[in-house]
Amino acid sequence: MTAIDSVSKKFANVQSSYPIDNLKLLEWVTEAAALCQPDRVYWCDGSEEEYNRLCQEMVDAGTFIRLNQAKRPNSYLARSAPSDVARVEDRTFVCTKIKEDSGPNNNWMEPETAKIILKDFFKGSMRGRTMYVVPFSMGPLGSPLSQIGVEITDSPYVVVNMKHMTRMGKKVVELLGTDSSFVPCMHSVGHPLDPKEKDVAWPCNPEHKYICHFPETKEIWSYGSGYGGNALLGKKCLALRIASSLGKKEGWLAEHMLILGVKSPTGEKCYVAAAFPSACGKTNFAMLIPPSSFKGWEVTTVGDDIAWIRPGKDGKFYAINPEAGFFGVAPGTSAKTNPNALATLGKNCIFTNVALTPDGDVWWEGLSDEAPAELIDWQGRNWIPDCGRKAAHPNSRFTVPIDQCPSLDDQWDNLEGVPISAFVFGGRRPSVIPLAFQSINWDFGVYMAATMGSETTAAAVGKVGEVRRDPMAMLPFCGYHMGDYFDHWLKMGHMVQNPPRVFCVNWFRTDHNGKIIWPGFGENMRVLKWISDRVHGKAGAAQTFLGFMPRHKDIDWTGIEKFTPEQFDDLMHIDKEKWHRELESHDELFNRLNERMPRELMLIREMLNLSLVRDMSDQS
Ligand code: OXD
Ligand code: MN
Repeated sequence: MTAIDSVSKKFANVQSSYPIDNLKLLEWVTEAAALCQPDRVYWCDGSEEEYNRLCQEMVDAGTFIRLNQAKRPNSYLARSAPSDVARVEDRTFVCTKIKEDSGPNNNWMEPETAKIILKDFFKGSMRGRTMYVVPFSMGPLGSPLSQIGVEITDSPYVVVNMKHMTRMGKKVVELLGTDSSFVPCMHSVGHPLDPKEKDVAWPCNPEHKYICHFPETKEIWSYGSGYGGNALLGKKCLALRIASSLGKKEGWLAEHMLILGVKSPTGEKCYVAAAFPSACGKTNFAMLIPPSSFKGWEVTTVGDDIAWIRPGKDGKFYAINPEAGFFGVAPGTSAKTNPNALATLGKNCIFTNVALTPDGDVWWEGLSDEAPAELIDWQGRNWIPDCGRKAAHPNSRFTVPIDQCPSLDDQWDNLEGVPISAFVFGGRRPSVIPLAFQSINWDFGVYMAATMGSETTAAAVGKVGEVRRDPMAMLPFCGYHMGDYFDHWLKMGHMVQNPPRVFCVNWFRTDHNGKIIWPGFGENMRVLKWISDRVHGKAGAAQTFLGFMPRHKDIDWTGIEKFTPEQFDDLMHIDKEKWHRELESHDELFNRLNERMPRELMLIREMLNLSLVRDMSDQS
């Protein structure tokens, strides 16, 4: 037998319709097939034909409903199991040899123990099913900033979603060649089928879920869920948790940030990367349409969720969006809040857990002022407006290719990325944090980003008015100790000659009646213009203990109706007593991070506190 014969014999049961020359990949897939015992192995090529075939198979199996072809061409609705509707943070683990390395911000398991547990669950987990091999690139194919992963999954739903969210298929295997390495991503819904057992529309494992990351060996194992970030392993698992840890080792940043471009009427353009915790309008900001009075201003979208940022040779940071699609929250998306998103969803879209209209289209809360008279809700039950239930699940989603977005930036898949001039950080804070300010320097900016957070509302767990800190909006996504992460951020700003300016914004300040003061949405352009003007050295600001704050005259108010200078003062007011308490509460976060907390940030807290106390005593 020749060497080639013996290789093809060894891998006979995992053969692909296209050549696989990477031995490591063949070996790993062969081992995975032996462990999971699927009925067959299928290598995804990423073609349209494959996508359409898998969608049709899911329609036949009852997993997908084909939507009205005239209203929503080539689009589908999936309904998940009610127990599988969101990321499961309490079942998400970072497995490092030393527990401290994963930090108090992560659940931890010892890697070898985790592997024993996982292998036990994966053993036979794909019986009766197809094992799909999904080669994918996070980032443009061939970019020095990209990473290649291969996901093994028993979910065709995952395959078609990965087609939208990543560059996926045969071309990625070609890029791997014979020797390149990849991040192995194991996924099973954890629902093997007995020979005569009929499958369900949304297989998952209601009892056991594990979303495990091994940053030291660059691996991901996910078991039991078919939903979103638990299952589309390129997104939160690879592009944030694994990539953040890789970035720490290699000198770059993997961030939970949108990237947008702003162009002035005179053609000056800059790129901004912005981090907001969930439910703060991140996708809306990424696709902002300026008010009509802002003639000639243009906002373009590079990404809505994740940014990979590296120092460039010219002393600036360059960022890519590692994704190729949007996996956005549907409720609240409308022609008023985000016309660009709505236009993006016109065709080739996978909806999950939204409601179905009688004419075969989709609906969710907020899509129109008035709900349709009747619907089928996200669980397949009849729904009428006063029935007391939501028609769409609050975490219902759309998955759609990014190149359908009307505001897409022409550099969105530039292999070198786009130069970042400003970082913007924002939380949901009814009080304390002003509408906008610019940090005095990089380290103060890192301090502000590290202490950002959102105040709990009646709908959230915890006491109303309590601030849940979400540093850089990365709390659930940082794949290592948060103290080391702050340290990495401090270092990164000092590595380059021209680090981006750092800004903080807060769209959510309320008046004494609890009403949000700032109109938000397209009006956020006024703040974005101030940011862009600051970057180009054109806008004024007052210097305060927080940094540079726009005065009323520094913001462009053309075309705004019903917004008074007094309201602006309310938005910008710094309540010193509240800030004193705010700084005290930063201590809670810092204490939790203990000895890995960078000293610079402790000193900045001290400095802010001292200057505040001096101000307060000067005024009394
Ligand atoms: C997301 C999230 O789905 O941040 O993007 O939870
Ligand atoms: Mn996100």
